[in-house]
Amino acid sequence: MVMNALRTAVRAYSTVQPGVRPGITKGFIGAIGNTPLIRLNRLSEETGSEILAKAEFMNPGGSVKDRAALFVVKDAEEKGLIRPGGTVVEGTAGNTGIGLAHVCRAKGYKCVIYMPNTQSQEKIDLLRMLGAEVHPVPAVAFDNPQNYNHQAARHAESLDNAVWTNQFDNIANRRAHIETTGPEIWAQTEGLVDGFTCATGTGGTLAGTARYLKTQNKDVQIYVADPPGSVLHSYFQSGGKLFERSGGSITEGIGQGRITDNMAQDVELVDGSFNVPDEESIEMLYRLLDEEGIYVGASSALNVVAAVKLAKELGKNKKIVTILADGAYRYQSRLFSRSWLETKKLDTAIPEHLQKYIVLP
Ligand SMILES: Cc1ncc(COP(=O)(O)O)c(C=O)c1O
Repeated sequence: MVMNALRTAVRAYSTVQPGVRPGITKGFIGAIGNTPLIRLNRLSEETGSEILAKAEFMNPGGSVKDRAALFVVKDAEEKGLIRPGGTVVEGTAGNTGIGLAHVCRAKGYKCVIYMPNTQSQEKIDLLRMLGAEVHPVPAVAFDNPQNYNHQAARHAESLDNAVWTNQFDNIANRRAHIETTGPEIWAQTEGLVDGFTCATGTGGTLAGTARYLKTQNKDVQIYVADPPGSVLHSYFQSGGKLFERSGGSITEGIGQGRITDNMAQDVELVDGSFNVPDEESIEMLYRLLDEEGIYVGASSALNVVAAVKLAKELGKNKKIVTILADGAYRYQSRLFSRSWLETKKLDTAIPEHLQKYIVLP
């Protein structure tokens, strides 16, 4: 009975939207979400648990952040903060900006993006191709008024009919995952998910998904996956006392120096955390390509490393879900370049049989 109802819910959820025929979406916006959950076969066999990865790189803008982009704009519309022809301003390391640029085109808004100038050229170029106005600014700490987020806020304030969508502390971001990602995972696993882990940038994905899954079943284990240079692993390991940061990471879009408002809503739902070194992430990135034919960015590979760690922690015959946040296309000039890998001392982390994938000089 319950299973049948769930199966019907999966079918209904994944194909039908009001006012359109099954299988057809209402424009770009309707194509956001409902991504496949991919069973990673080799890792599932190795761990004795199902390692399931949500293919967020299949969102129409290419990343998990399409969901947040849609919800922060929807929230601004619902609150009357933006009217037709208005401007959306955001501070973003890339993927949210790309999602916002698409959503703004689809809805007829202008889009202005501030970002740290440390981000890959591919992302900056893509934003400009999508019609956004991009301001790469020096990467300075959040408490500096010149931080890209504060510059974005000031830009929006200076305009009429404009909104700073404030992805880090606007909990409409988290709501995207309470209303979409969480229910999709629940339906796709037929309510049998045992653990969920992913890295955090704003924390929206982790917090919103955790909130939904724990509301359905309080025993679902939630683990934060953290790259070097982020403080969250030390925060969770110390029971919320420490904010220690060491090293840096090649991953983009994840890692955090504080508890954002999106994360603050749900910190108590976190059962544990993993620190994932870049050596493990880069090896997994090449393994996913070789073993599964999956071409994703370093943060997605980090998430899969964390999913394997969680599978080991929870014991066999479990279902562990993680996020494939975006594809490798936006980073390929770095991730598959021998000289770049050498400068990061990561070339030796890639096993001999996978070295053939390092095709760029
Ligand atoms: C590239 C990338 N961006 C963003 C996120 C998470 O986003 P947020 O915490 O902002 O929801 C992830 C998480 O895995 C990611 O890999």
